[in-house]
Amino acid sequence: MSIMEIVGRFHPLLVHLPIGILVLAIAFEWLSGYQRYQILKPAITTIISLGAITALFSCITGYLLSQNGEYDGDTVSWHQWLGISVTLLSFLYVWIRSKSELAAKVFSVVVLVLLSITGHLGGSLTHGEDYLTEGLFTNNESMNVASIDDQTKMYADLVQPILESKCYTCHNASKQKGKLRLDAPEHIQKGGKNGTVLVAHKVDESEMIDRLLLPLDQDEHMPPKEKKQLSSVEVEILKRWIASGASFDQTVGELKLTNNLKDILQSHNTPNVSEVPIDDVGKADESIINKLRMLEVMVVPVSQESRYLSVNLINTTNIDSALVMMQELKEQIVWLNASSTSISDVNLKLVGALTNLSRLHLNNTKLSGEGLVSLKPLINLRYLNLSNTNVTGKALMSLASLTSLTSLHVYNTAVQESEIDAIQKAFLNARIEWKNYVVPMLPTDTVRVMLPYR
Ligand code: HEC
Repeated sequence: MSIMEIVGRFHPLLVHLPIGILVLAIAFEWLSGYQRYQILKPAITTIISLGAITALFSCITGYLLSQNGEYDGDTVSWHQWLGISVTLLSFLYVWIRSKSELAAKVFSVVVLVLLSITGHLGGSLTHGEDYLTEGLFTNNESMNVASIDDQTKMYADLVQPILESKCYTCHNASKQKGKLRLDAPEHIQKGGKNGTVLVAHKVDESEMIDRLLLPLDQDEHMPPKEKKQLSSVEVEILKRWIASGASFDQTVGELKLTNNLKDILQSHNTPNVSEVPIDDVGKADESIINKLRMLEVMVVPVSQESRYLSVNLINTTNIDSALVMMQELKEQIVWLNASSTSISDVNLKLVGALTNLSRLHLNNTKLSGEGLVSLKPLINLRYLNLSNTNVTGKALMSLASLTSLTSLHVYNTAVQESEIDAIQKAFLNARIEWKNYVVPMLPTDTVRVMLPYR
């Protein structure tokens, strides 16, 4: 980084000086009209001069900052010219005060107005156009199962809103971090300073996905860690879009993704907060987490501040070793997703030893239910999904002591209609999903989000 670039970086800091100083001067200008504030009068010219000088330095640093090529477009040029105007007018203001009191008052108003607009545009450049109203609107309403049908446009209805809410602030017309714009198809295709960021059909070669999956504390991770992160559903949608050819105009029906996307939305529904223990827990052993990741096991904290862990076995081919290693994290692991894996009834012994589990997905597996009794120690279990397995009603009854269960999914199992009453009685607190509920997770559903455990 050159010295000029470093100086440029002081701009966002420095601009607060002329703003503060000029506003103070203008306040004095008006207050000094009153008898009791007349004493302020002699200071005003000095204060405005200081404001003008700091404004000049802001212009210089601002100019240097804009030279890094990351800022472009109308907002920047308006901000620049208004900033220069404020500076010039402030110097004129100093001079005119010695001429006419009325002119001074007029100047104070003009400077105040221009200063406010310049400041607002500057804020938009730093924080994004909508930073003032950001919290007021959520624009991801398209993200629910009901609103997805064959006519849904893959890019316009699903992908673009994600990029808009999570990437535009730094990759748009007025600000192009990494020389990349993501706010229109042609820019996305063009890529950034390191070339293309999107390779149709090749998720692994697409930099814009790679960066989402990097550990949060790496500099290249997108969006940068202090910004709102993508949800796993959003990551999945971007991946499906690229895997299906990154089309900018096709509908999900044309791409034959309708059911697939509905499933993604359904299976990633956010778990209940009550499914995380309130008690604190020690930090998990990082070396074990790394070993698990070596086996392609996905291990993430259940929420950003939590030390409790969520584990997903979908990508691993070595479930046995993974389960053995997981025993060393049994305090921390509270959610386990083994859906669409080759997990067997024998494996359930080790699952049953993870006694802090509150949420367990075993759906879409070959389980017969024989091993289900091994889950009896899971007295904290609230959510259990056994849909699309061969689990029988009898096997299920062996878990009847799990009174904390509030959600039990046994759609498309060997459970008979005649057994449902008894099951409902055995699991009094549980909502039992038996009919009318589909959770088919495709075996190809490779979730590879890897966030660091903190
Ligand atoms: C807070 C600002 C910010 C946000 C929000 C942000 N980025 Fe970035 N992005 C950067 C910065 C800074 C760089 C350049 C530094 C670097 O290469 O790591 C960059 C670079 C990139 C690059 C590399 C471009 C190249 O050719 O080198 C990609 C790809 C990228 N971002 C994708 C994304 C995606 C996708 C999102 C939204 C999910 C996003 N960014 C959101 C700040 C941001």
